[in-house]
Amino acid sequence: MPTPRTLTTAPHADFELEVASGTWPEDISGEVVFSSFQNSHSLPYAIFDWGSICRLSLEQGSRGAGPGRFAWQSRSIQTPGKRLFDRHPEQFAPGPIGYFSPFGPPNASNTAPLPWGDRLYTTWDAGRPVELHPETLEFVAEVGHVDSWGGSSMEMPGVLPFLFSTAHPVADPERHCLWTVKLELVMEPTFGMRPSVVRYDRDDGTQVRHWPLEGVSFGGSIHTVSQTRDWIILCDSGNFKADPSEMMGGERSLTIDKEVPVWLIRKDQLHGLASGTPVTPVCFTMSPPTGHYYARWDDTDGISVVWEGMDLMDLGLSLRPDDLDVNGNPIDPGAVGLYNMAMAPETITEVIFDPDSGKILEQGLFKQDWTFNLQLSAMDWSVEGMSAPTLHHVTYQGCRPGNISRRAAKLYEGRIDLDQVREDTPGALCSFERPSMELKARWEYPDVSDHITSPAFVPRGAPRGHYAGGQPGGHDGYVVQPVCNDNGFRVDVFDAAKVSAGPVATLVGTNKECIPAVLHSAWMPACHGLADAERLRFSDELSDERMASVPEELHPAIRAVAEECDSLQ
Ligand SMILES: [Fe+2]
Repeated sequence: MPTPRTLTTAPHADFELEVASGTWPEDISGEVVFSSFQNSHSLPYAIFDWGSICRLSLEQGSRGAGPGRFAWQSRSIQTPGKRLFDRHPEQFAPGPIGYFSPFGPPNASNTAPLPWGDRLYTTWDAGRPVELHPETLEFVAEVGHVDSWGGSSMEMPGVLPFLFSTAHPVADPERHCLWTVKLELVMEPTFGMRPSVVRYDRDDGTQVRHWPLEGVSFGGSIHTVSQTRDWIILCDSGNFKADPSEMMGGERSLTIDKEVPVWLIRKDQLHGLASGTPVTPVCFTMSPPTGHYYARWDDTDGISVVWEGMDLMDLGLSLRPDDLDVNGNPIDPGAVGLYNMAMAPETITEVIFDPDSGKILEQGLFKQDWTFNLQLSAMDWSVEGMSAPTLHHVTYQGCRPGNISRRAAKLYEGRIDLDQVREDTPGALCSFERPSMELKARWEYPDVSDHITSPAFVPRGAPRGHYAGGQPGGHDGYVVQPVCNDNGFRVDVFDAAKVSAGPVATLVGTNKECIPAVLHSAWMPACHGLADAERLRFSDELSDERMASVPEELHPAIRAVAEECDSLQ
């Protein structure tokens, strides 16, 4: 069975949910925000389409919901690029990795929500973080003038910069900054992408600082930035590789790596160092590749990292209308445009990177035949929780042969075990102990038409505006597990210490509404006002030179969008 058709057909809409079973906890609060792509069916690969932010309030009657009901809201992320598209859709051509236009490449900001104190950002790999208004969810600003990023990742005409970055910057609670990256095309030491560490200080959104990694050039992407108190951790995600022949209209031939480089940079190295000055990282090699890894904040006893392996998960491969699946059946029309799902069970491990010896020490590892599609995880993101983590909750979506193309299987001949991917297997929400990675709890979803997606951890009884509950670490609170199904979207809420006992409460839409596919989620306290801060305006980047690179007849639209965006701050 393929994934639910509604992942690609359900509209982005507001609706209300109510408790369908169980008892809603009294000590749960705040909201879960989700990033999503608005699937217009005009791109070959839907995950590059325009972004939306969705918000589920965990408080009855909040965000406009009726008494006893819970609000689900969805808003389009109106970046300057999206506003230009709305005025001149004919100028935007679909490509394998999003839209191209004479305005430059637009920022779709569709991959992950990033709450930071009382502020809310959204991100994606091919653009800067975008700040949204925490009440209205409207676009507010992009982060950092393009010149302060050191210019575009690749020189191209237009007023919209191309900034190849990461979907997962990380907020530093001691330095009050975001750590992120920029990748730029270089010829030395080899043709490839050179990463820079980028720092964005909280109070001044008009500028960032960047430091290139000396002597590093590679052919992948950096999907996540992780950190300890003293270190920044970067790696080549290895699971997404832009294929030049595919970009030119040919067949995809690149495959994902078996191992990837990891780079550690001491935060102290950057202190007082002029922006643009190269820094030398400590290098490691890690396997399997992954897009998602999370370090313990406290590094007194070493740099300990949960590594959510993405074994044989090639995110460069999407499903096409003419594809057959791995069992020889035509790909379901509802799956077209989605990514090709995992072709092997996934490994989760916790390791210690030792910068002195250059060694990686394994502390625990879990992999079983059923650990397919390690989708995403839920953890306690409070500083206290990140310092002493107890449980790491992981959503496995199960094997979905209907979402694995025969084309992909052919590309991975010799690496894929076809007997492992013939049948659908149940999804499961699992809790692992840190750092042993011992499986402490598992709740199975035997109905393979259930598509379980991004979970979020909610600390128990977190006071208003706070991220931490009474007993931080990941066990004292709730795991919110969204379940997509063509018969209606559900939200299962689990006691984080007792996931095996099943949900304590389940929400369903009052009209059995379905939702389109969502990507990452995050929990945050309910925030309302827009924080006072300096912010970049679109108009600040409209230099004469950039304007001159765009055809004259499109200038009125650029000026109108600049005026509109300036009024939002
Ligand atoms: Fe991600």
